[in-house]
Amino acid sequence: MNAAPLFSRLSRRLTGAFCALCLGLFVLTSQLDAGSAIITDRHVQSRITLMTGQKAALITFSDMVAGRTPYNAASARAARRALISATGTIPKRFRKQRMEPNSHARPEIWLQWTDFKQRAATARLMAKEINSRSLTGLRRTIPPMIEACHSCHETYRGTQNRAITH
Ligand code: HEC
Repeated sequence: MNAAPLFSRLSRRLTGAFCALCLGLFVLTSQLDAGSAIITDRHVQSRITLMTGQKAALITFSDMVAGRTPYNAASARAARRALISATGTIPKRFRKQRMEPNSHARPEIWLQWTDFKQRAATARLMAKEINSRSLTGLRRTIPPMIEACHSCHETYRGTQNRAITH
């Protein structure tokens, strides 16, 4: 047996396993965060609604990649479009500095506004890069999308009542 195809099959399988793992982690961490906290400020509410919509689009993808739902070209395409459009409005939704006890936004967003906008732009680019035309395409292009979400959260999303508990 030739070693080359075996190796490439193996590495494909490993990539698949890694991808399923990181999707699982993503869904887990975002579920932990999806509390029913009371938000009264409409600017805060609208940025959270935006983020929740992005999460819904990613769940569409992760369900297909993990085999929980069959691949469906039309819904994959719709989810990609939704993500491109949503990530494009992140700067607009966060422009006004608004804080609430139940918001997880860190004040650094407005101190490092250029960097924040840059991360939003990277997320939009990754959304455009999503290849929704096949399951293989999704497997390859969803992990960098998730990475772009995480990268911003790591820096700009804190835990609840951070200022009080730390
Ligand atoms: C440029 C930065 C940035 C990017 C990119 C980003 N987020 Fe967020 N996200 C935030 C911030 C900041 C918050 C906290 C907002 C708040 O609580 O006021 C947040 C909150 C969330 C929440 C929690 C909403 C809630 O119920 O409290 C989810 C879910 C979420 N983001 C999903 C995503 C997904 C999915 C992506 C990628 C497609 C993404 N985010 C990309 C900055 C970002």
